[in-house]
Amino acid sequence: MQAQRSLPTHVSFIMDGNGRWARERGKERVFGHFEGVESVRAVMEASVDWGIPFVSFFAFSEENWGRPDDEVSTLMELMGRAMAAELDNFMEHGIRFIVLGNRARLSDSLNAEIDRIMDITSGNGGLTMILFLSYSGQWDILQAAERMAHDLIEHPGQPVRPEDLSRYLVTAGIPDPDLLIRTSGEKRISNYMLWQTAYTEFVFTDTLWPDFRKEAYRQALEEYASRDRRFGKIK
Ligand code: IPE
Ligand code: IPE
Ligand code: MG
Repeated sequence: MQAQRSLPTHVSFIMDGNGRWARERGKERVFGHFEGVESVRAVMEASVDWGIPFVSFFAFSEENWGRPDDEVSTLMELMGRAMAAELDNFMEHGIRFIVLGNRARLSDSLNAEIDRIMDITSGNGGLTMILFLSYSGQWDILQAAERMAHDLIEHPGQPVRPEDLSRYLVTAGIPDPDLLIRTSGEKRISNYMLWQTAYTEFVFTDTLWPDFRKEAYRQALEEYASRDRRFGKIK
């Protein structure tokens, strides 16, 4: 890979456009979600090949609960099945699998499956793959603020710095994304990692998520490599 020199540590994806991909083919929206799983697999494999340490995917937002019941239940079923089907692959490639989000809203059976796979893969030292499920950035900041406020009451008088709140977010311990890629032509954050993307580079592509494979990923990484990250400083 040419962009080796400025390879990101953490690449995140807003996987969008599954429904439109299916509709363009005269199919039900769920077919787009099924095909989208193949894109996740392709991105994961490429990330392992290229030595990217952290890859995360926005799979289901808190707002997505407002979709029709049958789409929500199909998506939830698909998540459980897809992660179970990937377990051998995770173990073969040393992938650590993590789910982050408002787990209280997920079914007991899906939570049990998530715990099982997270537990089995927890000792793996290769790529960390994060699935954001029932996640929203505002929810994350709120739950962090609530817990931090609780601790501050117990230990008053401490100065509060941004890195203190970061430790209460569900992403604690995970480096902030260097690169965020959103597919399907939408140019918005849709309540994803609001706090963590303070200095993230964004790449927006018209490609629909089910069509986003290794070549599209490589192009996004090249675009990232050409960016000049200044973090508010002067170079
Ligand atoms: C992304 O594709 C998957 C989820 C949000 C779960 P969409 O389902 O949003 O597809 P479009 O944007 O309607 O095409
Ligand atoms: C963002 O996609 C959420 C996920 C990819 C999980 P949406 O399709 O829900 O976003 P909007 O509604 O177009 O902003
Ligand atoms: Mg969408």
